[in-house]
Order: sequence, then structure tokens, then C-alpha cells
Amino acid sequence: MDGRDLVRSVKAVGSAGAAQGWRTVRAAWRRRRADAVGLPPRGAERARVPGIVQEAEPGPGGGVVRFGRSELRIVVAVNGAAFWGWDGAGPEPSYALAGRCPEPDPRAALEPDKDGGWRVVAERVTVAVSRHGAIEVRTPGGVVLRRDQPPRWWEPVGGGPARWMVRSEVAADARFFGLGGRASGPRLRDGTYRLWNTDPGLAFAPGDDPLYVTMPVQLVVADAGTHLLFHDSSWDGTVALSEGREGAGSGHDRPGTSVLRMDGGPLRCWVMVGTPARVLLAWASLTGAAALPPAWALGHQHARWGFGGEQEVRRIVAGYQERDLPLDAVHLDIDHYDAHQVFTVDQDRFPKLPVLAEELRRDGIRLVSVVDPAVPAVPGNAVYDAGAAGDAFVRDASGQVVRGVGWSGDAVFPDFTDAGVRQWWGGLYEERIGQGFAGFWHDLNEPTSFAAFGETTLPRSARHRLEGLGGDHREAHNVYALCMARAAYEGLRKLVPEERPFVFSRSGWAGMQRYGGTWSGDVATGWPGLRASLALVMGLGLCGVPYSGPDVGGFDGSPSPELFLRWFQLGAYLPLFRTHASLRAGRREPWEFGAEVLEHARVALVERRRLLPYFVTLAHLARRTGAPYVRPLWWSAPEDRALRDCEDAFLLGDCLLVAPVLDPGADRRAVRLPRGRWYDTVTERAYEGPGQVLVEAPLARIPVFARAGAVVPVRGRDGGVELEVWAPARGRTGGGLVVPDAGDGWEEPGIERYVARWEGPRVVVEREGEDGLAGPSRPVRVRGLPEGGPAQM
Ligand code: GLC
Repeated sequence: MDGRDLVRSVKAVGSAGAAQGWRTVRAAWRRRRADAVGLPPRGAERARVPGIVQEAEPGPGGGVVRFGRSELRIVVAVNGAAFWGWDGAGPEPSYALAGRCPEPDPRAALEPDKDGGWRVVAERVTVAVSRHGAIEVRTPGGVVLRRDQPPRWWEPVGGGPARWMVRSEVAADARFFGLGGRASGPRLRDGTYRLWNTDPGLAFAPGDDPLYVTMPVQLVVADAGTHLLFHDSSWDGTVALSEGREGAGSGHDRPGTSVLRMDGGPLRCWVMVGTPARVLLAWASLTGAAALPPAWALGHQHARWGFGGEQEVRRIVAGYQERDLPLDAVHLDIDHYDAHQVFTVDQDRFPKLPVLAEELRRDGIRLVSVVDPAVPAVPGNAVYDAGAAGDAFVRDASGQVVRGVGWSGDAVFPDFTDAGVRQWWGGLYEERIGQGFAGFWHDLNEPTSFAAFGETTLPRSARHRLEGLGGDHREAHNVYALCMARAAYEGLRKLVPEERPFVFSRSGWAGMQRYGGTWSGDVATGWPGLRASLALVMGLGLCGVPYSGPDVGGFDGSPSPELFLRWFQLGAYLPLFRTHASLRAGRREPWEFGAEVLEHARVALVERRRLLPYFVTLAHLARRTGAPYVRPLWWSAPEDRALRDCEDAFLLGDCLLVAPVLDPGADRRAVRLPRGRWYDTVTERAYEGPGQVLVEAPLARIPVFARAGAVVPVRGRDGGVELEVWAPARGRTGGGLVVPDAGDGWEEPGIERYVARWEGPRVVVEREGEDGLAGPSRPVRVRGLPEGGPAQM
């Protein structure tokens, strides 16, 4: 038991009593024993490489290249993404894909390459394979973006899954991003990153890795182009990254390298090439459009582990209302559950939850409920009994139901990799709907089973249905939460067909955006945690998960008033804006930190509400284009190396640039601006990019800039949508998109397109229509005009 293990078990003991502590010790032993029996040692292994090319056979979108000891299938799909798979691996079945694999692009053809190799040339990418099985990803112009050495496999002589490894090189100037949610990102510096969804046990900070959401998704940005690479295997693995170095005239360039090692699963991958926007579009078309959160989930949400009962919820809500602070949702953590139940409310402390929910809803506040997958193993518990009768729980290799430890003690775990189990579980949300909940917060679904030492999850030997194919936890672990999210999402669609489900999940995998978003988990309270919480949102966005945000204020301890405020100010510009903290942490209500913090937090809350139409628009655009709301500064200028290295600011959609304060005591900060004119949105002072500027960042606000020409939809005083237009530079035009909120249903509102231009001394804003440009139907306010300058139109 190392120090962390000790603290972890203390955490478990502390939260549920001494008996819980023994359970966690027992759980760890049980897991070990199960694995010792269920996963006998691998024994001797035989190494293999593909060998020399023998022949090639063209097929739709590419073809098959046969080697002495393997074969490679290459297919370019109509969405521009290229697939390759070794040893006969095809794109399906896959937990990442949104549906069937996209059709092959009939224009892509297999043809001979130099030195006996072969290549598939498509409109956006060329995939070339050498006679030894090295693979190059090239731009249409022929520049190499990535070079994989021939893969290596290690196969147990006695049979069983092969381990494999791929070593790749990228340009010396390339930067790596992605791999899911990484606290030390978004730029992934030299290091080894594990691909195994993990509850870190304690509140995490930069340096803690892996965390709850890992994915074999790399976004690589280099001068020559951007590519996204996805190895579609859910097994445990590692990615060792090393950034390259440029010789800078006094030596050779040293390429960047990525070494991926997987414990099993098919060796197959997808690659997308182009601009960042193009790449994310292709990724979304492959893995699915992001679920659209209801507008209330784009407002401010307040959570707490440890609401004592209905009275306390009412007190907190009243606290917001009395101070005129916007609040859109309250989240109830595990403490509203009956001790030995799942999906059953503690009637003593929450006797009239549906009434409370209804009252809150009338005030525009929704209730969100935490849902853990661990089902208390207590006969008589309705969910346990029904699950047992339906054979819904994960079993071990000997056929016994696997016992783990959840918050309320011994627990069993539904096998969400089975369609029937998903359907059953999805139906259980009916109880939650009946209690008045409007949204769901999936937790501990790595899955976590508390253990006093070793890993806090199910034994690797635990059996899973895996859609009828069968397999064990080594393969199912990373997709467990994804499948749980699917169960909830599909269940809710049936239970409340007229409303879009709102689900966000602590753990997940490639494609999780189809069912909802995530949050940054138990981030440590402290300035490093604040920085990590931005890194996670940016990194996840680049993996196709646009909706996320941190526990504002951090999960544990008590932030200083300054730290809380800076976190709050950042959170106000992130998709999920939620205050939350642990049972034993200090308070997180904005009025708990003194009058000054309250005033500044109010400004952030009011601004968030004013920007709601912009957030709604960004949510629709994320759904339709795959572009995350929160984007790195290099989003539209990936060739700008200074921007590529900038991690302390972000673009919020096309219009805004947000520069949070991430250091204590700062009252000004340097901000790197991309090309073009940018206005400080408070002072309206104009700055010209590209370049770095030093701006004021008083406690009252964090610097936010608007791009010249931007048309930003904002909420007017009457609640309607107005257009805030930032004057284009003279001689230039601007524009923006607005997607109006069409309620919580399924209606897909049309996109309004606006252009802004100078006409003599005035800035004119027009809406693009079928018959050309017309005056906007929405009120317009032009900002950024020189003082005493021309009035708005
Ligand atoms: C986990 C979650 C946290 C939650 C707690 C109790 O630590 O990450 O958000 O408050 O469990 O349910």
C-alpha cells in the first residue's frame, strides 16, 4: 500500500465508516484473486512484424496490401477520413463510430508507390505503405505529416490477445494535443500517457495522469498541416510522446515521436488531415454529432456534495435569488439517496422532491441528479433484484457476479456493453424523472470500485458481453462509461421523447459527445488546479467532446477568495459553468467570500447570462460542425508557432478571446493575439494582432477581447436576442452566425448569417437571405467605434 493508496482508503473509510474500510481491503484482494485465476500468466511470446510486401488488391476506396506475415487494409471514406487496419481488421464493430462505417470514397484508388510500396491517393490525404509496412500520411501536396514504422506484435505462444506497438515520427515543429482529458495539457509535452480511464482517488492536479477520460486520439499540429489520428482499440495502453527539435541552422531536425503500446485489440486506425476545423468536422461525422445541451445547461449550475436536505437546497436557491444572482440548475449529489438504494430518494431529508423540483422549475431552475453505476448488493433493493433476475451484472471468469465497493458498501456493476442491460438501465431513469429531475450527472463510471490498494476498478478478468462478442474487462473498461451514457441517453429519449436528454459523465471514450458532455472531475483546489481545469476543457474539445467544465473553486479544501473568483470568472466562459465541491470542502456559494468577490462574481454571472444566445449558437455549431466552443488560439492559424505554444487563453467561438487570470496576485497579464484587430470588450480599446499585449486584469474581471467585425448574439434587457457588433477595421468586413434557441425539444432552428461592413461613416449590419441581403430583424448595437464617432445604424 503506497501513500496514495492509504489516503484513498482513508477517504473511503472516512466517508462511509470503518466497515467500508474493510470492504475496500477485501475488494482489492478479491480483485487480485479473480485476476490470478481468470487471467493466467501470458507465458512465452512470439514477436512478429508484417514482413515484405507480396501483392496488392484494389478495392472500394483503397484496397488490401498483403505482406509475408500480415495484411493491411486501407480505405478512404467519403468524409475524407482514411482507415487502415492490420491482420484483417476492419472499421467495424466499433464503440467509437456513430453508426455504420461511412461509405468508401469511389475516387480513392490503390496505386504503386516508389520502391515497391503502394499508396492510396484521395482528395485530402495520401496514405502510402512501404514494402516493409511503414505507413506515411501525406498531404495532397505530398508533404509527410506522419510516418509509422512497421508495427510489431507479441503473440502469446499458447494463444490469446497480441500486444502491439507502433512507433511514429512527426515533423520537428509538430505539437501533440488530445488523448482525452489530460491535466497537464492541452499541449502534451514529453512523457508517457496511459490509456486507462482512472479515478485518481484524490483530487488531482497537473502531473496526475491518467484521469477519467482517456482516448487514443492524437491531434497533431505542424506547419505542414494538422492531422487527427485515432487508434480504435479500447484496451489499456500507453502513448510515449516526445516533441521534436529543429536544428535551426546548426544541426539536423529531430522529429517528434509517438510510441503507442497496446495490450490488445485490433491494430486499426483512422486519420483525418486538413485545417483544425476540417479535421474536427470529419471526426464528428465519424463519431457522431455532439448532443445539444438544453439552454438551461448553458447557464450557471450549482452543485454540492452534502446538501443536508430540502431546506438547504431552498436556502441556497434563496441566497441566489435574494442577491439577484442568475441560477439555472441545482445538482443533487449522492446524499439525497436512500443509504442502500440506487434511484431511490431519502424520504426523511427530501420528503417532497417533486414539489421542490416543480417550484424551482417555475423559477427557471432545473434539478440535476447524480447517478452512479454501482448497485448496492442488497437483496430487497429493487434495482439489485431486477438486475440479478435479468442477469444484468458483470460476472467473473468462474461465473460469479463480481462484487465491488460503492459508496454504500458491497456493490455489483451492470454490464452496459449489453444492449438488453442498457435498455433495462435506461428505463430506470423513470424514477428520476418522476422525482422532477431534468438532467443526469454520471459519476464513478470508470467504473470505480473503492479499494484500499491497487487499482480502483473491476478485475481485468471480469467478463463482459461486448455486444455478443464476449470479452473481459481489459477490453470493456474504457468503454464502460460510454455505454452507460448511451443507456441513459436512449432511455431518456423513450421516457421523455419531447425533450433532449441532458447527460454528462465523469468517464468516457471516443464518441461520448453523442450522449452528452463531461466535467473535469475532482480537481484539486489550488492555482495549479485552476490551470488544469482549462487544459482539460481545451484538450477534450480537440478530441470531439465540446461540452465540459470544471468544479469551479476546486473539489477539495477551501479556495482563497481570490482563487475562487478567478475560477468563477474562467468558468463563466466555459460550456459547463458549475460550482461544486466535496462533502468536507469549504462553501462555494459566491457570497461566502466577502462583498468584493460577490460583486465581481455577480458581474461574471450577469455576463454569462447576457452571452447565453452566443453559447446556444456555439452549442449548435459544435453539433453541426464538430468545432468546440472553447478553441485554442491557433484554431484558425495553426501555422502560427507562437499561438501553438500558448495555453493560457482561448477562443470562445469565432468572436471572443478569453484570457483568464491563472496566477495569484496578478492585476495585469500578457495576452497573445492572433492576426487582426481585437477590442478589449470593457474598455473598447483596439489592439492589432498578431502580437502580445499587456492588459489590465483587475480583480473585477478577466480580459475578454472581441474580434473586429464580430456579430455576437446577446440577450437584451427584454430577454430577446440582440446583435452586438464590433466595428470591422476600416475597409474590412465582418460577420457572424446566430442560431436561435428553439426550446428543449428537437426542432433544428435555421442559421442566421449576418455581415457587417462600413458604409460611409456608419457600420451597417445585414442579414443574408435567399433574396440577398436585408436589414436584420434583431436590434443592433455597434461597439468599438472611435469616441464621438459615427452612431450606430
Ligand atoms: C466523486 C465525484 C464528485 C462527487 C462525489 C460524491 O468524487 O467526482 O463529483 O461529488 O463522488 O458523489
